[in-house]
Amino acid sequence: MGAPIDTAGFRNAMARFPGAVTLVTARTAQGARRGITATAVCSVTAEPPSVLVCLNARTGTCAAVAETGLFAVNLLAHAAADVALAFAGQGGLSGEAKFARGLWQADAEGLPLLQDAVVALSCRVTAALEAGSHQVFIGRIDGLHLGEGQALVYAQSAFRGLAPLP
Ligand SMILES: Cc1cc2nc3c(=O)[nH]c(=O)nc-3n(C[C@H](O)[C@H](O)[C@H](O)COP(=O)(O)O)c2cc1C
Repeated sequence: MGAPIDTAGFRNAMARFPGAVTLVTARTAQGARRGITATAVCSVTAEPPSVLVCLNARTGTCAAVAETGLFAVNLLAHAAADVALAFAGQGGLSGEAKFARGLWQADAEGLPLLQDAVVALSCRVTAALEAGSHQVFIGRIDGLHLGEGQALVYAQSAFRGLAPLP
């Protein structure tokens, strides 16, 4: 028999799934930048090249993606745990203030791309689904920006790097 599935149990189980740490970024129709730390990001299909992101519906980032139909996924390098914490709201940071961390540029659609990202994807929403507290967006990848370095990983409630097996 499994343990009862309350929120704590769910979180405890999900903590065992290592996740690549990304910043999902967007802009409002007025051009204000929005972004959150997100591990709920997944490859969907190569034809057409697509990924999905799961965003808390209460976040400004989710509202901006819903408004513009655009988002970017920035895969963080292993040395960027401080940026991940900032975009998770540490220190009360929100909205534009988060972008004081890291070096940013805009893609052709005005989406914020992190210069030091291991890879950054510029995406256009092709499908959206409400799932409880979260909104799932599937996006077709319109732009690929390949960087360098190893990804930052979040597992067992801690930021980690990738190491080869001994
Ligand atoms: C490691 C980690 C992974 C996270 N993954 C997600 C995620 O996939 N989706 C999500 O909506 N929030 C995720 N969060 C929470 C958001 O980053 C957090 O709620 C964010 O600060 C909300 O931004 P806001 O306060 O500006 O609205 C994650 C946080 C951390 C620390």
